[in-house]
Amino acid sequence: MPQVSQLFFKTATVFFLLGIIMGLHMGISGDHSAFPAHAHLNLLGWVSSAIFGIYYALNPAKAAGRLPIIQFAVYTVGIIVMIPALYFLSLGNTALEPFVGIGSFIVFAGVLLFAAVVFSKQT
Ligand code: HEM
Ligand code: HEM
Repeated sequence: MPQVSQLFFKTATVFFLLGIIMGLHMGISGDHSAFPAHAHLNLLGWVSSAIFGIYYALNPAKAAGRLPIIQFAVYTVGIIVMIPALYFLSLGNTALEPFVGIGSFIVFAGVLLFAAVVFSKQT
């Protein structure tokens, strides 16, 4: 498996563990207010990262070069900025809203880079 796939699966697994812990915490405490952070940690962090990892594993030629690693770094930093801010925003800390926005745009940049990889000419 290409290195970028390994990296995506490592971060995806950490995000999955944290997402499930957040879900269990909501279920056990009965306070579901953090559900947007839980939903996006699981869907952007676990599901989408794993799909990126699978894509690169199925298309090793596209995993070559620096762009896939840059795509991984940008996308993952976006999640690391967005999700904790979204978690505390969901709990009522409105001061963190700009960080949710900034993180979301970094995630978007990571997806644009993925589009550049997908639509690039196969070498
Ligand atoms: C053991 C694992 C999990 C537990 C205990 C858990 C628990 C919860 C809880 C308590 C809520 C709030 C429900 C509500 O108030 O409406 C929730 C919402 C949600 N969860 Fe999980 N969850 C788990 C795993 C996952 C996974 C793996 C995903 C996605 C891959 C996921 C996606 C979602 C989504 C999208 C919502 C929001 C649903 C809505 O719009 O109401 N969850 N979860
Ligand atoms: C940076 C990317 C994204 C942004 C900025 C974003 C933003 C949002 C916003 C503003 C809402 C409404 C929240 C509310 O009304 O409380 C929402 C809900 C939702 N989004 Fe996203 N989203 C993103 C990516 C995704 C992706 C990739 C998925 C699925 C793979 C997804 C699945 C959902 C689901 C299931 C809900 C309903 C549950 C919830 O409110 O948390 N989102 N999203």
